[in-house]
Amino acid sequence: MPAEILLDADALAEHVRRLGAEIERDHPGGVVLIGVLKGALLFVADLARAIRNIPVELDFIAISRFAPDSGRVKILHDVGTDISGRDVVLVEDIVDTGLTLAYLTGQLRERAPRTLSACALLDRPARRIVPAELRYRGVELDDQFVLGYGLHMRDLYRNLPFVAVGDREVVAAEPEAYVEQLYRPNGR
Ligand code: IMP
Ligand code: MG
Repeated sequence: MPAEILLDADALAEHVRRLGAEIERDHPGGVVLIGVLKGALLFVADLARAIRNIPVELDFIAISRFAPDSGRVKILHDVGTDISGRDVVLVEDIVDTGLTLAYLTGQLRERAPRTLSACALLDRPARRIVPAELRYRGVELDDQFVLGYGLHMRDLYRNLPFVAVGDREVVAAEPEAYVEQLYRPNGR
């Protein structure tokens, strides 16, 4: 199955604009955006730029699954911002099983932010293992595996300016499977 473009740059920009406006409306006093590395890096950069009328502090957290599919994760890079008493939005690329979001929300809540909510560009509720409360949601997916705009397979495809749907098994077996199709060296 060839990869198919699901969200092109214009569609992404429109979702980012809408989500930025929603976050702005709910946080007149400013907001701390915490992007989950590396997947949310492109999204959170665009989201921060889409918020024009309130101050945004930007920080990052990185986690790693240390036992695949067990749902157990650990923090590899922590936020430097003191979030106690602050209004915080955790920004994810995609919520799938919900385990990452549940873990991070639990960790951040212990630091006593005034408010804590979550924003994800993509949401795939069909694969949920633990409930996830997403205050800001871009696009709901069926059980489609996606790549691009931060999303990767073995760190490939993150820099694509669109989100494409691929075959999970194909790309897991051969991470480079869609490189030729999705990149255009020499302007192909
Ligand atoms: P979780 O299953 O909700 O904990 O999501 C874990 C992480 O897996 C997400 O934050 C993404 O970084 C990654 N992920 C989930 N689904 C996809 C996908 O379709 N493509 C690429 N990465 C994904
Ligand atoms: Mg992620």
